[in-house]
Amino acid sequence: MSYVITIDGPAGAGKSSVAKKAAEILGIKYLDTGAIYRAIALILAKSEIMPDNEEFLREALSEIRIELRENGVLVNDFDVTSEIRTPEVDALASIYSALPVVRSALLGLQQEQVNYGSIIAEGRDVGSVVFPNAKVKFFLTATPEARAKRRYDERVKKGENADFNEILAAIIQRDKNDSGREISPLSVPDGAIYLDTSDMSEQEAVNFVVDKVNEALK
Ligand code: DC
Repeated sequence: MSYVITIDGPAGAGKSSVAKKAAEILGIKYLDTGAIYRAIALILAKSEIMPDNEEFLREALSEIRIELRENGVLVNDFDVTSEIRTPEVDALASIYSALPVVRSALLGLQQEQVNYGSIIAEGRDVGSVVFPNAKVKFFLTATPEARAKRRYDERVKKGENADFNEILAAIIQRDKNDSGREISPLSVPDGAIYLDTSDMSEQEAVNFVVDKVNEALK
């Protein structure tokens, strides 16, 4: 019988890397719901469909095909895997994902992923709205400074320009957007295990998640 594990939390708390590694160890699929919101935001912005034009949005959303692959995302057969990982798309995804019309259009796509086997889903509302009956729910967080430091180190490692204060300000702004919105605000889902990773290594967080899941599956 397939089961669902959820990890919610703010940007940069380490959800993706923890979910990816835990999925590998547990032998289940990893569902990156943020990538879906990013892909949709990118295509809507490129098509110049403004966030306040609900009618156009609804029409466009009914025509966009999103396909999730093992290591990427396709929109209308076009691979956007790397294009969705830019600071511009960070900001666009935060804006478009606050819209009810966007969220409801993407609900079914996320939920149907469980038809293909057990999953570990990561996002902002996966434990509260998308999979309220998940087997185990986690809420992964870290201080804004710890999260900004991780993003900064990542960019420097890739040889990109990075300004710590700029990254910190963007993280604080995204937290505000994601927590302050009316629909599906970022919150700790009922029954979720709360984990602050500020002073933890990635491996420690992965071990914590895997141990809790194995305990629940016993
Ligand atoms: O996790 P991420 O940074 O890739 O998410 C991109 C944006 O999408 C972020 O602003 C929050 C939003 N998002 C959401 O609203 N709900 C989700 N389940 C996942 C992401």
